[in-house]
This record gives sequence, structure tokens and C-alpha cells, in this order.
Amino acid sequence: MNDNAFTDDMISNNSANQAFADILQARVERRQVLKGGLAVAATSALAGTGIPFAANARPGLPSPQINFPPVAIADGGGPVPAIAPEYQFDIILPWGDPLEPGGPSYSWPPTAADQAQQLGIGHDGMWFFPVRDAGAARAGWNEAIERNPWRGRALAFGPVNSHGVLCLNHEFGGNGHVLGKAAPQSLDDVRASQHAHGVSVVELRRFPRAGSGQWQPVSSKLARRVHVNTPVTFSGPAAGHALLQTGNGNVPLGTVNNCSNGYTPWGTYLTCEENFHGYFGTEDASWVRTDAQARYGFSSGGFGYGWHRFDRRFDLADADYRNEEHRFGWVVEIDPFDPTHTPVKRTALGRLKHEGATVHVDDHGRVVVYTGDDERFEYIYKFVSAEDWRTMRARGQSPLDHGTLYVARFNDDGSGQWLELSMDVPALAAQFADLGALLVNARLAADLVGATKMDRPEWITVGADDKVYCTLTNNSRRTVADAANPLAPNPDGHIIRWNETSGFAGTTFAWDIFLIAEDTHAADREDTFSDPDGIWADPEGRLFIETDGGQKKGLNDQLLVANIYTGELRRLFTGVTDCEVTGLTVTPDRRTLFVNIQHPGDGDPSATNFPLLNATPDGTTVPRDATVVITRKDGGIIGS
Ligand code: FEO
Ligand code: CA
Ligand code: CA
Ligand code: CA
Repeated sequence: MNDNAFTDDMISNNSANQAFADILQARVERRQVLKGGLAVAATSALAGTGIPFAANARPGLPSPQINFPPVAIADGGGPVPAIAPEYQFDIILPWGDPLEPGGPSYSWPPTAADQAQQLGIGHDGMWFFPVRDAGAARAGWNEAIERNPWRGRALAFGPVNSHGVLCLNHEFGGNGHVLGKAAPQSLDDVRASQHAHGVSVVELRRFPRAGSGQWQPVSSKLARRVHVNTPVTFSGPAAGHALLQTGNGNVPLGTVNNCSNGYTPWGTYLTCEENFHGYFGTEDASWVRTDAQARYGFSSGGFGYGWHRFDRRFDLADADYRNEEHRFGWVVEIDPFDPTHTPVKRTALGRLKHEGATVHVDDHGRVVVYTGDDERFEYIYKFVSAEDWRTMRARGQSPLDHGTLYVARFNDDGSGQWLELSMDVPALAAQFADLGALLVNARLAADLVGATKMDRPEWITVGADDKVYCTLTNNSRRTVADAANPLAPNPDGHIIRWNETSGFAGTTFAWDIFLIAEDTHAADREDTFSDPDGIWADPEGRLFIETDGGQKKGLNDQLLVANIYTGELRRLFTGVTDCEVTGLTVTPDRRTLFVNIQHPGDGDPSATNFPLLNATPDGTTVPRDATVVITRKDGGIIGS
């Protein structure tokens, strides 16, 4: 999201846990060794001296080919996107377009009724669920298709690469951009804003065209919007808990600030509620903020959406809606293939400002879900299902309802522990009445077990090397400085990775730093980047990195491809003035890549008219978030 506007000044964690900054300071020597190693490897690879980065790859997997000429710094600014010369892009699914042909067409500002049938704004995380046949049947385990190159080859020319259901998050949209006014003036204004948030489910097909084809949404029984007023249910340990009951007993409704995402082996989508606190507020001067509300950052003004002025559900002081704020901050499961399915909030994963929810399946079939809490000095979490997901589902249980939640501690010697968050931990049993209360207050529980405060954990992905990669986007409030360590403050972020040394379901890990953004800022470097945010690892050793923040050297936010074995970086795509490049999904053959342009121009038509590609913005055409479809001109694997 546009964190500069909303969250950069926010710190809710005042617990005494050791900050990651402190630990990093203690590891200067280790980092310098790493930097030296990377510099040598990158230089050698560029010089074509055959640095054997593939030697570290999983046996049998190809080494990552990343040979494309990148977007030059000089080409990566301004009001229109730029793409590497061997690549091309199309733009689809702009905010305000109908979900399917025949729906209400775009007009600005939208009415509440139209917006509920149109694509929302604030395009962010998404996933492409391939379709096997004309009946839109589920094409099987997406993760297996993605991570297993042999299965990928088998599917390379099937319909799964030209037909799918895309689930697309709509994280945020300021009132000025959505409504054309600073604050809502009616409940109808509030509803239009609310309907612009949430998730879109659209069925896409690729139609013949010279080159790689043209993707378009099609009429579909699966097309639907999930937004702030869509009925939802709760499941897992906190479902039915008193802390999730409001004063008037209203039914649970909606999802908001849907940031990044995940997807499950059983073919469902996970949408993650990040900065939910900013949508609540109150004008009741007698409202007293509780400690728990403070820990989650609630305030009387929120982000300035003003929903509480016309929709009592978002008024923190309204007794009829007490606990409504506990109903947000969850990972929400949506079945893209069942339009009647009620989205389910999975409480076992804890309530926090979930950036994403990355699912990995371990050797025993257990589901492991990684999720970052994106705020300065917050934590990284992991959930492990109780048993093999197939066994649990055969029994009628959700693997996301039964298991154990952990939070990460990064030790200064490069080791780490996953600290259990359950009533089996005496310090937590002494503090919380039951597991439901613990999960509703997951941040407070994590404080008590001594988790490590991180520099804004954003996306997490599992690489071809089976290491887990996490972006730490920035933390300008870090205060522990060291002459040799540029990370205090850390305005530009870094990427950490770890190896699960006792298995993905285990409680020990070994970590190191993959990249530090500031290291790329030297005058002679073309591969500069800052504020890493979205990441996705392909099965061949590439790491796709998206940015959200102030890039150096006049660059817009961008998409780069890294070699996980060498750290070499190439710039594949740049967005437009004042946008974020976020969201990332592929077809199973990895020959089509979808990314999003979020908040182009921060909504200012004099900055950009995207998706119109006007070299000189006209000052009147409101820019619209949209999805960018990237292909190689030769039809090859994206990133090669
Ligand atoms: Fe929604 Fe932390 O990005
Ligand atoms: Ca941003
Ligand atoms: Ca993000
Ligand atoms: Ca961000």
C-alpha cells in the first residue's frame, strides 16, 4: 500500500524485545563476509567466467538463466511503464471496469452499486488458478505445478496456460482518488469506498493474437466481488469467541485492506488483511483506547476514511459494535471455483497486520504458512498444520484450523527459533483466558515470548534452494547505528532468508542476509533498488523482487529478477510516476507473468494517466490501478 501516507510514522510495538537492528549490529563481521562473497560471484558471473551458481541448486533442476538486457536506469522513470527490450506487456483489469462483459462500465467517481460489480482499486496480491476445461474445473495443485518442473513441462501447452480464474486483492484507495472528495458526505459515499476494497474474482482467457495472445475477462459464473460488506464466517480456535461478538450480535461482514495473498494445495485463495485499523475511528471524545487497541494502532482518526461517520460498524466508541475491530486482521480463505462459498477467516493463523500468507507443504504433507506483520518492529510468524493436509481434509477438517502458530526469534549467531504461541506456554497461559483470546491478541502474545522486532516484514517465498526469503522493506526509525553497518536507520530495506534446519515444520532455523538495498546504490551500479516488498521465487532459482518506495536515480518502482545463488539482479520492468509495483502470479508454464500497478500517480492525473500511455499527462484523466501482463517476445520463460 502507500505506506508513506499511512504507516511510515507508526510504531505500535513498545515491548522490550530485542530489535532486529541490535542483532544485525552484532553481525557486522558475518555480513561483510557475505557481501564479499556476493561481489565476487556477481562480478564473475557477469564476466562469463562460469561461476557455478547451479552447483547449489537442487539436483536435477536447471540453473537460472537470467540473460535478458535490463531496463536502463535512464528509461525507468516518468508517466508510462518501461519493459526490458526482449519483453512486452499488455494492461488489463483497470479499476472500475466491469468484472465481466456486460457489467456496469467505468465512470468516475463510481456509484456504490456499480462499484460492487466492478474491479476494485488498490490492486495488490493475486493468484492465477489455472482452469483445465471449458467447465472451469479446478486444475489441481497449483503449488505442484509451479514448483515441479516436470509437471510444469507436461502442462506447458495445455489450456491451463490460456484459461484461469484470477483472484485479485484491492488493498486501499484514498477518498480523493475513489470519491473525488477528501471525506465521505453520505453513507452512499462510504459504501462506494467500501466496495472499492476487497477482492475480485475474474475468469480470464487468452485469445489469439500475433505474438503471445491477448488476455481478457470473460462472462463467468465464477466472477464475483468480495468487499467490506460481504458476509464472512470465522473458523478455528477463536470462532465463536466472546471477543468476536458485538454488542448487537450483528453477523460478521467483510474483508478490508487486502494486501498480499497465498493459495492452498486444495485450490483456494488466501487474502490477507493488513492495515485494518486505519478504517476505524470515532468522533466520541469520551472514547478511551485500550492497551490492546493501542498495540494494533487504533486511533480516533484512523487513516481519514471517515467511514465511522456514516457506518456505525466502524465507530470504535459505539457499544453496539464493540469488538467489531477484532473481526479484522485475519487471513481469509476464498474458494475461487465456488461463487456461493462464504469467505472464511482462519483464526488459527492469528490476528495481526498480515502482509501475506505463503503456503508450503513439508515432506509429511503438513501445511506450513508464513506470514509477516508489516509494521516497524513487528514479527514474522509461521503456522504448521497438525497433520497431512489430505488426511485432515478427508476427515472434514481444514488444515488451517488445527495446528500451531509460532513467531520468529533471530539470534545474533545466525541461528533462530520458532517460538510457540499456545496455551502450552506457561507465560501465555498466565496471560490469556484461552487460545481464542491469545489468537485475537497475537501481537501481545508474541511480545511475551521474546520474538525479534523486524524492519517491516512484507512478502515471504520459498526459493528453489528451499530457503525461505522475506522482504524487510525499510525502517527509518531504527536508532542503533554502527559505522560499518548502514542499516540504522534502514530507509531502503533488505531481504533476509533462512534454512529450516529441523524441517519446515520444525522450530530451528539458520539465517543470513540475501541482499541489502543500499549496497546497490553506488554510482556505478545499474541494478539499484530500494524498499523490496513483493517477492516470488520460481523453481529454477530466480527471485522476482517488486519495490514499494522511493527508488534512487529517478527510477519508478520496479520489478527485478535476482539469481538466488549469486545475488545478481536485472531490472525487468518499471512502473509509472508515484506508483507501487506489486502482486505477482504466473501461468503454470511461467510464460505469462501478471503484476499490478498500484496507486499510479497517487491518483493525480497530472502525474500520469495510466493505463493510458500518455507521455505528457493531460491533467484530467484520473489514473487507474491495473494489472500488467508480461510476456517474452519469443514466448520464453519469464525471467530468462
Ligand atoms: Fe500492503 Fe505492507 O504492504
Ligand atoms: Ca507505495
Ligand atoms: Ca506490500
Ligand atoms: Ca510496502
